[in-house]
Amino acid sequence: MKPFVYITRKLPEEVVTPLREKYEVKMWDKEDVIVPRTVLLEEASKADALLTMLSDQIDEELLSAGEQLKVVANLAVGYDNIDIEAATKRGVTICNTPDVLTDSTADLTFGLLMAAARRIVEGAEFIKAGQWKSWSPLLLAGYDIHHKTIGIVGMGSIGSTVAKRATGFDMEILYHNRSRKMEVESELGATYCSFDELVERSDFIVCLTPLTAETKDLFTRDVFKRMKKTAVFVNASRGPVVNEQELYEALKEGDIAAAGLDVFDKEPIDETHPLLTLSNVVAIPHIGSASIETRMKMMNLCVENIDLILSGQEPKTHVNK
Ligand code: GLV
Ligand code: GLV
Repeated sequence: MKPFVYITRKLPEEVVTPLREKYEVKMWDKEDVIVPRTVLLEEASKADALLTMLSDQIDEELLSAGEQLKVVANLAVGYDNIDIEAATKRGVTICNTPDVLTDSTADLTFGLLMAAARRIVEGAEFIKAGQWKSWSPLLLAGYDIHHKTIGIVGMGSIGSTVAKRATGFDMEILYHNRSRKMEVESELGATYCSFDELVERSDFIVCLTPLTAETKDLFTRDVFKRMKKTAVFVNASRGPVVNEQELYEALKEGDIAAAGLDVFDKEPIDETHPLLTLSNVVAIPHIGSASIETRMKMMNLCVENIDLILSGQEPKTHVNK
């Protein structure tokens, strides 16, 4: 019997073809609907490999259902949706998709920063709503980006690449990270500082840290109050790193100027969420890595990792080695 691969979302057929040649492959048949938990549990109980989305919870219950499971390839760099300890205990290899998405995610993050600072989305909504009556000196005037200070929280590959983008805007670069990154200091002129100093000195605070027990609720009202009133906050990591209610209050009360958000506590965010009522919020639906080229690379990498594991080899990107 051929090993069984279950894919939790409908992917382009060309991506899946290499797997079909060697394995029995089944896909959840919807592109934009999450696989129901009962279906996932049932398929996992028969699967040798799972190709999962960041919206699937790969927890103890699922891993114990998957008795023959050898690999879970998650279509994301982040893997906070997976219980890594439980997987490791059971000998299940977890793979993610780092590197291939770094540049695209950094582009989007910088775009979000620019959109929030220069009110690009507000301007686009304004013109489409027929509100443009005349050119005016301070119409939709935002904040400059060039020559300002950017503070990056989480200096991994994506953080470093955002820093590289920032050099093109002649920005002063501050960063905070668990460990110092000597390359970004020497190559990009970034300065390491404490979280508190970064928050107080930056004009743009960009959050790119993974979600862990330590980073959950890192950004609270108290932190926003310590930022400049003209500060723009950008989150392209994971929603729960921010206390969303307190971010809402900070934006509403003018503790900070604006926010660009690609991620939310609960995704999809409810359209009636208070944050979405604010004109100084640019909200986009978790599309950091969503260029066609990059998403194809991510899918291909997942497929390749599954094939490597099922043929007894070391995968390219192994999270729990
Ligand atoms: C997206 O958020 C990812 O982790 O790849
Ligand atoms: C703007 O378009 C200007 O000419 O100042």
